[in-house]
Amino acid sequence: MKISVIGAGYVGLVTALGLAYKGHEVFCIDKNKNKINNLKNGKSTIYEKGVDNLLKMCLDKDKIKFTTKIEKGVKNSEMVFIAVGTPSMEDGNVDLSQINIVLNQISKYITQYKIIINKSTVPVGTQKEVKSLLLKNGVLKENFDVISNPEFLREGKAIKDFLKPDRIVIGYDSEKARRKMETLYSDFDTEIIYTTPETAELIKYASNAFLATKISFINEIANLCNIIGADVKTISYAMGLDQRISPEFLNAGIGFGGSCFPKDIKGLLKIGEKNGYDFEIVKSVLKVNEKQRIKPVNIILEHFTSIKDRVVSVLGLTFKPDTDDTREAPSLYIMNELLKRGALIKCYDPVMKNINRIIPGIVNCNSLYQALEDSICAIICTEWREFENINLKEVKKRMKKPFIIDGRNVLNLEVVRKSKIHYHSIGRDSYTINDKGC
Ligand code: UDX
Ligand code: UDX
Repeated sequence: MKISVIGAGYVGLVTALGLAYKGHEVFCIDKNKNKINNLKNGKSTIYEKGVDNLLKMCLDKDKIKFTTKIEKGVKNSEMVFIAVGTPSMEDGNVDLSQINIVLNQISKYITQYKIIINKSTVPVGTQKEVKSLLLKNGVLKENFDVISNPEFLREGKAIKDFLKPDRIVIGYDSEKARRKMETLYSDFDTEIIYTTPETAELIKYASNAFLATKISFINEIANLCNIIGADVKTISYAMGLDQRISPEFLNAGIGFGGSCFPKDIKGLLKIGEKNGYDFEIVKSVLKVNEKQRIKPVNIILEHFTSIKDRVVSVLGLTFKPDTDDTREAPSLYIMNELLKRGALIKCYDPVMKNINRIIPGIVNCNSLYQALEDSICAIICTEWREFENINLKEVKKRMKKPFIIDGRNVLNLEVVRKSKIHYHSIGRDSYTINDKGC
């Protein structure tokens, strides 16, 4: 099939490459010339496992074309995926302006039947709004259908999630479009759920909100573990063995970040609000997360009367490992709180190297141990592999006070216990050797 994907961000690029890999003829369109030039030259614009290889393969086979010219792609395609950004606005509402701009741009090229597919996460009712806008722009009713086909791509595993998905969701209101979608996804070995556009749109929000609920729930259990001396990892493990619960998304820590969970939860709350429904659980999930992500700051403040002009190390900046993405990362909230209290921050991340573009005034170190020099406390914010094997002798040598707050529970408790350092985890044993010295 001939397909256009508009928006070459995380979701758009992975979708375009995945469909090209499956043998379709794909135009990947983005307004950003720099991005398109890099992609044309085989340079990935996102940090994502497998993208480089897939890009090379699809370019070599001439299955994908990158362009900034929306006209060229859309005129030549029978399907048009929209994968532009849908960020949160200040009030939590979803900003649909990028989608509307794209619709206004493509309307004049829809002169024969095309299927417009919403890939970006959009509020319930957007499929209908897209239809109305296209009609308002003069597109003939018989020349288009609009499908809701939400994405479930995890950063770091996006290619796998695209090619081997747990499910595909298609919201449709036209049999003709449904049949085309069946053909498009015919060789995907997974269950396809065909439903109404509203249900499809809500499946996306319900899925992300449920996963976030699991995280906030286990984080509250972890907080209780810290008080009563129980071990949250053992609890998660035991809970996960119950097939009704599943072991996934039960890792306690300093909360969830990323470009989707925080935004989608706020989006779902707004959908509830607009429809006169007060989502009590979802509201609490967000509230718990807001407290959880700055928990390390509260732990530090319990130990030090002042952190003004003292070095604090932040290890890991990205919202999770295997990505260079810091959108809504707990590390950002922690660093802002530390800066407010006058701390000097030294940070280290294996991949993300230009944090000063987001928060100025932080010392960006080239190695983990360099970030620990003269520090009174190190906070592990991301579970990068490298941190699991941190050399605790080196930690003691470099830090002013060997004190680690393990925000992702990555360190081996036996090793920590023997090393005699101050150690705080989220819901596991904590070892405080000598508080008074702080
Ligand atoms: C986006 C949404 O924000 C998310 O909610 C959804 O589920 C999937 O799509 P992401 O792919 O991470 O996520 O977005 P982003 O990295 O911002 O990429 C969007 C791309 O669209 C950018 O490359 C931007 O240049 C491009 N774009 C935007 C256009 O080509 N034209 C426009 O008019 C607007
Ligand atoms: C998410 C969805 O999982 C995916 O389906 C799509 O809708 C896009 O949004 P992503 O944002 O890439 O994917 O990350 P994900 O792996 O879901 O993790 C989100 C956040 O939750 C991260 O900050 C992670 O550290 C945190 N998390 C995850 C936990 O704190 N504990 C867990 O057990 C799992």
